Amino acid sequence: MAGVHHGLGLLLVLLLPAVPASSPGTVVRINRAALSYVSDVGKVPLQHALKIIVPPFLDWSGEMLQPTRIQILGVHVPHLDLKFIAGFGLHLMATANFTIKVFSVPEPLELILPMTLTADARVAQGPIRTPVVSISTCSPLFSPASVLDGSNSTSPMLLVLVQKHVKAILSNKVCLRISNLVQGLNVHLGTLIGLSPVGPESQIRYSMISEPVITGDYIALDVNAVLFLLGQPIVLPLDAASFVLPWPVGVKGAMATLGLSQQLFDCVLLLLQKAGALNLDVTGELNSEDNPLNTSALGRLIPEVARQFPNPMPLVLKVQLGATPAVTFHPHNATLRLQPFVEVLAVSSNSAFQSLFSLEVVVNLSLQLSVSKVKLRGATSVLGDIRLVVAASNVGFVDVEQVHALVGTLFEKPLLDHLNALLGMGIALPSVVNLYFTNPEVFVYEGYVVISSGLFYQR
Ligand SMILES: *[C@@H]1O[C@H](CO)[C@@H](O)[C@H](O)[C@H]1NC(C)=O
Ligand SMILES: *[C@@H]1O[C@H](CO)[C@@H](O)[C@H](O)[C@H]1NC(C)=O
Ligand SMILES: *[C@@H]1O[C@H](CO)[C@@H](O)[C@H](O)[C@H]1NC(C)=O
Ligand SMILES: *[C@@H]1O[C@H](CO)[C@@H](O)[C@H](O)[C@H]1NC(C)=O
Ligand SMILES: *[C@@H]1O[C@H](CO)[C@@H](O)[C@H](O)[C@H]1NC(C)=O
Repeated sequence: MAGVHHGLGLLLVLLLPAVPASSPGTVVRINRAALSYVSDVGKVPLQHALKIIVPPFLDWSGEMLQPTRIQILGVHVPHLDLKFIAGFGLHLMATANFTIKVFSVPEPLELILPMTLTADARVAQGPIRTPVVSISTCSPLFSPASVLDGSNSTSPMLLVLVQKHVKAILSNKVCLRISNLVQGLNVHLGTLIGLSPVGPESQIRYSMISEPVITGDYIALDVNAVLFLLGQPIVLPLDAASFVLPWPVGVKGAMATLGLSQQLFDCVLLLLQKAGALNLDVTGELNSEDNPLNTSALGRLIPEVARQFPNPMPLVLKVQLGATPAVTFHPHNATLRLQPFVEVLAVSSNSAFQSLFSLEVVVNLSLQLSVSKVKLRGATSVLGDIRLVVAASNVGFVDVEQVHALVGTLFEKPLLDHLNALLGMGIALPSVVNLYFTNPEVFVYEGYVVISSGLFYQR
């Protein structure tokens, strides 16, 4: 089993494409409250794991060898407690009661065997850059069993021998079962590096970049996000300084705290721009009340347009984002600055496109962030005014003031709708399979975003 895991790990390492040296920083902090949650939901799997098969007890005391069947009827874990060990990992303390049936003659015997289990586990960065938990010490400690039924007919000698037998078997197997449980957890944690779609041809993948930082209050994973466009990693032109998330930050007592650096957002916007996802064409239709994009409307403002197009023809606004949108995080608010290049074209009589003029536009948007499921979503609205400058004209003088009302308002709504649809799809946050964020809250700080959230594990 271990060999198979190792081989798989090696394969995944070979498949990972070279990651750009500078990488947008993300910090995932798992806080103490998450350990209480794990302690809660972990009892049932622990109980299952401890249902161990005990071989029959061979009684040598009589005249002939008597095999006595023994069965663990149930395991109850009344108490499970997890703590962080600074600089190392986790400490586990659990108590369990085994209900054991001994099929002795003439009467079966039922025992309760209490156990206290302590274990330390190291949390480290694994070979495929996911967190790996490994048990370093594990010691089950048994207390004397209490007899529920059938004590009258059982010799005290048999009781002592049976207990010795059961304890010997359990001592061997309990820690093995705990290790298996942890192996399953590691496979699960390995899904951190799964690729998640960002857009049609783009994906994001998170992986650890260093050993986790462990204090008495949290485990922090420094995670980098690599964005892929058509399978190729996107390299940020700016050099990414390492991102440090202050402590404490966000909601006190939250299970998880995520810190997302500005670089992650820059990288996502660069990806969307490179993918051309931010470009759009706004097309006018003739004889439509709500879309007055036609040459006769424009001809009233620009005589040359009226001269060239005596018959009304539809207009097309080609909106392209040459410059990457820039996001800025101030305390409590986020803004997005777009600099679209808008080309105004008319469909001429031979249905070819004819460029009339082009505009350089600057628009500031306010960006609201929210989390749903495991995705960070955005919504924008226009902040202040749209600034237009004429870049080129084939129709003589263009009065910006005059075309502002027509062109500015006409591309504003489609651009916002387009952008909001795109940002509304959201980008996957670092997570593992079946783990969801609950009641997430988003906070904007100078230069970074913090998400405080509960966690919910769905089997
Ligand atoms: C488990 O064992 C402990 C110690 O013997 C006892 O105090 C406790 O009541 C037991 N719990 C159950 C559910 O049997
Ligand atoms: C065990 O012994 C007690 C008295 O010592 C008696 O009351 C009880 O019925 C006996 N139980 C069984 C199962 O024989
Ligand atoms: C052109 O747009 C104007 C509104 O600016 C509208 O009244 C007119 O009907 C449109 N013309 C055509 C032919 O669609
Ligand atoms: C955003 O915050 C900054 C600094 O706190 C402030 O100067 C700016 O006016 C705010 N903008 C909005 C749209 O609230
Ligand atoms: C956009 O915001 C920047 C910085 O806050 C400001 O300097 C600029 O004038 C704004 N532009 C527009 C078009 O509102």
